[in-house]
Amino acid sequence: MATHAQTHLPFVAEIDGHVVGCAWLFVAQRVPGGGAMDRRFGDVQSVMVREEFRRQGIGAALMAAILAEARDRRLLHVTVHSGRRAVDFYLRNGFTRHRQILIWESAPLDAMMSHA
Ligand SMILES: CC(C)(COP(=O)(O)OP(=O)(O)OC[C@H]1O[C@@H](n2cnc3c(N)ncnc32)[C@H](O)[C@@H]1OP(=O)(O)O)[C@@H](O)C(=O)NCCC(=O)NCCS
Repeated sequence: MATHAQTHLPFVAEIDGHVVGCAWLFVAQRVPGGGAMDRRFGDVQSVMVREEFRRQGIGAALMAAILAEARDRRLLHVTVHSGRRAVDFYLRNGFTRHRQILIWESAPLDAMMSHA
């Protein structure tokens, strides 16, 4: 947490003083544009609830806290790179699919070698 304190806000879910879940909100800036100087956005990372505490709404509570923070900070938007099985979880918790967000992914090293 200390290493990422400048860029990532940590969120922790606790039950009886024990950490049962956590998540990060990465906050970054777009360059000024469209008449706005302040164009910060967020990216949710590493949402994790301990297995024995899942399906009780803890993940939803973490997401609600993150999106409340995003609203308070007036972030333009928040993205998430979901695991395959968690897509519906994010769709239920305020996220929508977006046609105009595209992604470039680096090829695995062995695939790059076979092109060389
Ligand atoms: C995704 C995750 C954070 C949800 O936490 P949670 O506390 O169980 O969330 P909630 O109780 O609010 O919601 C649970 C719902 O999410 C669904 N879900 C989404 N992703 C899931 C996953 N990877 N494993 C199990 N259930 C998942 C469950 O099916 C459940 O739906 P249901 O109530 O209709 O059965 C938790 O399952 C988890 O830690 N998974 C492993 C890590 C992960 O996949 N993180 C997200 C990718 S970045």
